[in-house]
Amino acid sequence: MDIKIAPSILSADFCNLQSELEAVRSADLVHVDVMDAHFVPNLTIGAPVVERIAQVSPLPLDVHLMIDSPDLFALDYAFENVENIAFHLAACHAPIRLARKIREKGIKACCALNPAMGLEGVLGILSEFDSVLIMSVEPGFGGQKFLASQLLKLSRLKKEAEDRGLDIKIEIDGGINKQTIGPACRAGADILVAGSAIYGEKDRARAIKELREIAERA
Ligand code: DX5
Ligand code: ZN
Repeated sequence: MDIKIAPSILSADFCNLQSELEAVRSADLVHVDVMDAHFVPNLTIGAPVVERIAQVSPLPLDVHLMIDSPDLFALDYAFENVENIAFHLAACHAPIRLARKIREKGIKACCALNPAMGLEGVLGILSEFDSVLIMSVEPGFGGQKFLASQLLKLSRLKKEAEDRGLDIKIEIDGGINKQTIGPACRAGADILVAGSAIYGEKDRARAIKELREIAERA
């Protein structure tokens, strides 16, 4: 199975980002959480810092925007070495227009869903996106407990995409660790985000290897 592991630097040491990026080079993508203290009750980093991270990261970036009005700000993150931009459907006024603008920049567009959101809003516009990000915790913080309720949503989405012959990747974000990565993969996840399960371990490369082994066996 062709899965991708995306360490979330939310749990990294922000004073040593360059070495923290090097430490996860055996992964596939680097997940960067942008929070604005409005859409979520936490504040992280903005475009100038993401730009530098994109420049020094050995891996392409998966930018996860947890912000209000992504319609106005998402393209500020369209840097070289950014592979995906995810924005939340709940915060977006014109998701089709925004997804098209992101894709015009040669970047993959990803539609993110909060745990309480059903699939209804995205099913009719699936072909506008390269991936859907299913939040398996309430967005805003690392280190929260995995919401198993999201697995059913994930498998339904997988089936729907397969039935319609759509090449949509499914990303899952929140509470992914050695216990939860197997069930997430079996439900159909393609991209697994893990913050505390990787940066909470002294040996980041080993944590990635262990997660990958479990995912590939699932
Ligand atoms: C939470 C962020 C996640 C977070 C995941 O809102 O979107 O990317 O870093 O952290 P863990 O893996 O610790 O749940
Ligand atoms: Zn995230």
